[in-house]
Amino acid sequence: MRIFAFILALATLLTACGEKTGIAPQRMADAIFAVIEADRASYTNNVVNRLQNEEGVIKAEEHWKDKQALPLPAQMLRMGAERVAEQEAGFNYALLSLWAINKQNAPRTDLEKQGLEFVMDNPGQNFYGTENLGGTEYYTAIYPDVAVSPACVSCHNDHIDSPRTDFELGETMGGVVIRIPL
Ligand code: HEC
Repeated sequence: MRIFAFILALATLLTACGEKTGIAPQRMADAIFAVIEADRASYTNNVVNRLQNEEGVIKAEEHWKDKQALPLPAQMLRMGAERVAEQEAGFNYALLSLWAINKQNAPRTDLEKQGLEFVMDNPGQNFYGTENLGGTEYYTAIYPDVAVSPACVSCHNDHIDSPRTDFELGETMGGVVIRIPL
């Protein structure tokens, strides 16, 4: 019996040490999201909104290379996500939606679908879960992406490839998915 008590004590100690030295996956995901969200909002407000809507200097548009325009905020986010994926930084992220204009941004796993439905149905709340993909256990966090400006709604509703045409201001349009291998 004593050996069990010892193992239990050791396990408790190791767990306590682990908590001190490691970062819990939810804290890590929340911190990563804070950076992604800050970059997305800064680019949208200080580059796109200022130069396109306020000063009329340059437009943001999907075919930005051909049209000498600014990339859309969603495209900026994907460029960042692709760079992070190349660096094998130990996590990955993407901006997805159940009504994606770009089919690359549609959910691929059951948990992604479940999380996107959850953030749509529960405004202001995040979704956290774990999933096993190809033999690896992942911590997956999904954060709501909200239509904060009329431009979000009108561009998506009018876009020829948008499967949905009735988005409203203030509604959740999709979600940022952050996935961390455990
Ligand atoms: C001028 C048009 C335009 C505006 C403004 C715009 N979007 Fe998009 N959005 C797009 C396009 C085009 C894509 C697909 C880009 C890609 O990944 O190639 C996209 C992608 C997305 C996606 C990923 C799913 C999908 O539809 O492909 C989400 C979520 C999204 N936008 C939300 C928003 C929100 C929220 C805003 C406002 C803050 C916004 N968008 C503003 C055109 C726009």
